[in-house]
Amino acid sequence: MELRDRFGRVATDLRVSVTDRCNLRCRYCIPHEPAAWFERRELLTFEEIARLVRILASQGVSSVTLTGGEPLLRRGLPDLVRMVVATPGIGDLSLTTNGTRLRELAAPLRAAGLRRATVSLDTLRPERFRAISQRDEHAAVLAGIAAARAAGLAPVKVNAVPLRGVNDDEFVDFAAWSRDTGIPVRFIEYMPLEAGPGEWSLEKVVPGREILAAVGRRFPLVPASGPEDPAPARAYRFADGAPGGIGVIMSVTEPFCRTCTRIRLTSDGKLTTCLYGPDETDLREPLRLGASDEEIAARVREAVLRKRRGGALEVFETRRPIPLVRTMHQIGG
Ligand code: 5AD
Ligand code: SF4
Repeated sequence: MELRDRFGRVATDLRVSVTDRCNLRCRYCIPHEPAAWFERRELLTFEEIARLVRILASQGVSSVTLTGGEPLLRRGLPDLVRMVVATPGIGDLSLTTNGTRLRELAAPLRAAGLRRATVSLDTLRPERFRAISQRDEHAAVLAGIAAARAAGLAPVKVNAVPLRGVNDDEFVDFAAWSRDTGIPVRFIEYMPLEAGPGEWSLEKVVPGREILAAVGRRFPLVPASGPEDPAPARAYRFADGAPGGIGVIMSVTEPFCRTCTRIRLTSDGKLTTCLYGPDETDLREPLRLGASDEEIAARVREAVLRKRRGGALEVFETRRPIPLVRTMHQIGG
């Protein structure tokens, strides 16, 4: 079975948001206090998530990433890890976290079967971290990264969002840090996921090419296409053989919609086939009303057939953000 859309793309990667809550307020993601978070009963239970993952795996999904909001705010997350790891057909499970709770949770997550993790870290400077995330958690994130490695998660990677005039002088510093720690750093171009009115503009986007050029002048780079860093990331290693590496995800300047393999499950049980929306397919109500696996699988196949050509492509073509139904913390990146 495979989930093939009208454009020939096959959905193999599922991103599962386990909560919309977050303990940071990154300006590009949750700049203001949200009016409300989802209520407990609106969230899928772990049993519901596990069932959907099993159904999706039967349709060809082979890779799962747990996200949020901040996924480690969801109590008992190692239990969900255990359930997903045990799902036939799921060969790869990852976690994308802001790292603030990893110090306590890295070891239990590893024990539950998680093997790798990606930590979001936009700056190496504590005062900048406070400016970007509106919280004083820089040390906690660094401690979380160390704990993840000590617990045996491998690889641990870092995601950074470069913002013009904010952290766009740190690319070489990040590269040096990567060489010291061996942790690959991937820069994700700032996407217009309208966290707040007027937050995003094309001028704030730092193109991935510029980052590669800046780093390459100091530390020559060579392309490294490892199996563990599939598209959409373009990965580079250091020409002198130093550990670590740099990647760029050119989600704005070179949209990869044509080769998109992703679908997403929101924490309130909607299947979305594009980060930019607007199409959402509710799976929670059928689940709670007793639908069969086959009925749910059929809904998923229909949703995939409706998958749009690409939200990022439209932004690229029109140079304008498109109105969103949900913001990033409700989708899960
Ligand atoms: N553009 C690019 N990346 C974003 N993230 C959150 N919002 C945006 C945005 N507008 C990142 C987070 C995290 C990942 C899940 O997505 O920093 O690393
Ligand atoms: Fe939280 Fe991640 Fe959004 Fe920052 S980017 S506010 S860490 S969900």
